[in-house]
Amino acid sequence: MAAKSDFNDRMLSLGLARVAEQAAIASADWIGRGDEKAADQAAVNAMRDQLNRLEIKGVVVIGEGERDEAPMLYIGEEVGTGDGPGVDIALDPLEGTTLTAKDMPNALTVIAMGPRGSMLHAPDVYMDKLAIGPGFRPGVVTLDMSPAERVSNLAAAKGCSTNDITVCVLERPRHEEMLSELRGTGCAIRMITDGDVAGVMHCAEPEQTGIDMYMGSGGAPEGVLAAAALKCMGGQIFGRLLFRNDDEKGRAKAAGITNFDRVYTRDDMVTEDVIFAATGVTGGSLLPGIKREVGWLTTETILMRSKTGSVRRVIYRNPA
Ligand code: FBP
Repeated sequence: MAAKSDFNDRMLSLGLARVAEQAAIASADWIGRGDEKAADQAAVNAMRDQLNRLEIKGVVVIGEGERDEAPMLYIGEEVGTGDGPGVDIALDPLEGTTLTAKDMPNALTVIAMGPRGSMLHAPDVYMDKLAIGPGFRPGVVTLDMSPAERVSNLAAAKGCSTNDITVCVLERPRHEEMLSELRGTGCAIRMITDGDVAGVMHCAEPEQTGIDMYMGSGGAPEGVLAAAALKCMGGQIFGRLLFRNDDEKGRAKAAGITNFDRVYTRDDMVTEDVIFAATGVTGGSLLPGIKREVGWLTTETILMRSKTGSVRRVIYRNPA
């Protein structure tokens, strides 16, 4: 295994932006075309192709699924040229396949990279998530608090009324009870139909996005990606794996997880400094979508390093 110091995040970050950009460009022709699978496949192919050009000994730890169900970018797949540092990679070539197919806001291509052994090998199960932006004391909100308590604690910490808090929630029947409790606090709720990596990231820039807190259950792999983003942007995220059956517990065991009730903090999910890139596919409050002009496609990528807290926005104009 390569020494952790071999992970040259500064040099690798531009390569990571290219990976996210090319996945977005590949999915551009599928925006609003009603075909989620084709959009996803195009992004997967492009992301894999670009990753294999990077001088890394990469292993996909958060990917498209288990080896038997995902032919490409499956968990455990080795990517890169095989020269260079050993790295862990978490990716979602198209976060929001339905958003893309329906041309709805906030579809992203997402990738994070860190030294080998730095990311939680989260199985493809649900995770109960809670996230807030930077600047709050640890524990101001926790997964063990009720939704109403989280809203009132955050409002107190911000010095505002609960009416001034906006919570982002995935619109799912499983969230009905939580939503009705949140309604009782007077807070605003930003419902999203998909894309909770973006949902969590929105908390880190509340002035721009208007979102203070994210809560509810979504994919565990997306939880690790969101933790990588917040490690760069600042902010807190907590996650607890949710199991619907023994098969899901088996997957967790196979991934090395023994404590099924554990609450993971941001730094438990991503234990070392990482780099993170996301490119907007469809426009949202965090990133604009791909812009089409005759002969050109333009993308915007957010590229971040947790070591320095640097956030770049890379605009890339590319002949179509
Ligand atoms: P896809 O891009 O794979 O369609 O996932 C989108 C997503 O909304 C994630 O952001 C979220 O974590 C998950 O699906 C929620 O799962 P479910 O649709 O089963 O509630």
